[in-house]
Amino acid sequence: MCQHSHDNPDIQQLFENNEQWVKQINEETPGFFQSLSHLQTPEYLWIGCSDSRVPANELVKMDPGTIFVHRNIANLVNSSDMNVLSVIQYAVEVLKVKHIIVNGHYGCGGVEASFNESNPDLIDHWIRPIRKYLQRSKESFKHLSHEEQANKLCEINVEEQVRNICHIPAVRNAWRKGQALSVHGFIYDIHDGKLHNLTETVDNIADADQTLFDRK
Ligand code: CO
Repeated sequence: MCQHSHDNPDIQQLFENNEQWVKQINEETPGFFQSLSHLQTPEYLWIGCSDSRVPANELVKMDPGTIFVHRNIANLVNSSDMNVLSVIQYAVEVLKVKHIIVNGHYGCGGVEASFNESNPDLIDHWIRPIRKYLQRSKESFKHLSHEEQANKLCEINVEEQVRNICHIPAVRNAWRKGQALSVHGFIYDIHDGKLHNLTETVDNIADADQTLFDRK
């Protein structure tokens, strides 16, 4: 089965790139893969969008082994999503990451879709939380252009996911036990490649519950 993929130049390119990548890393850091193969000790959990323009490790120039990554459409943290909940629990309780980062981005298609009525039905279901944020913001959005509204909604979406993380049992249990754990909200600008810190850092239950983080 394997060799058939090599007949396809689009796929073959990936294997050629991989060989170059391995060669380059082995030249720069001999023993890199051997040392990583023993265990991973990432300090960061990154929850980002699946968008191909927002690669997690690359945009913060971090090596393999440093960031535990979860990506989905519009970087949502839904309290009934078994996938993201498992990722967070494993990252916090087993890997003991020190930071959880929600990384949103301007120009997010998932956020944009919440303005539209004609989405594939599963997408529509997935982005329902964002549609709710949009409904809630209608009054304050009245005088803004569509682009301004979309940008603002991307920011609100990150803030809301940070808030959601603060209510996840694995996170609260870690704080109760005195484990060092901070939750951050970032936003990435696909127009210039720059990353911005968007929210106050939350590193304890009292801060998580305080009014600062209540809805504006
Ligand atoms: Co996106």
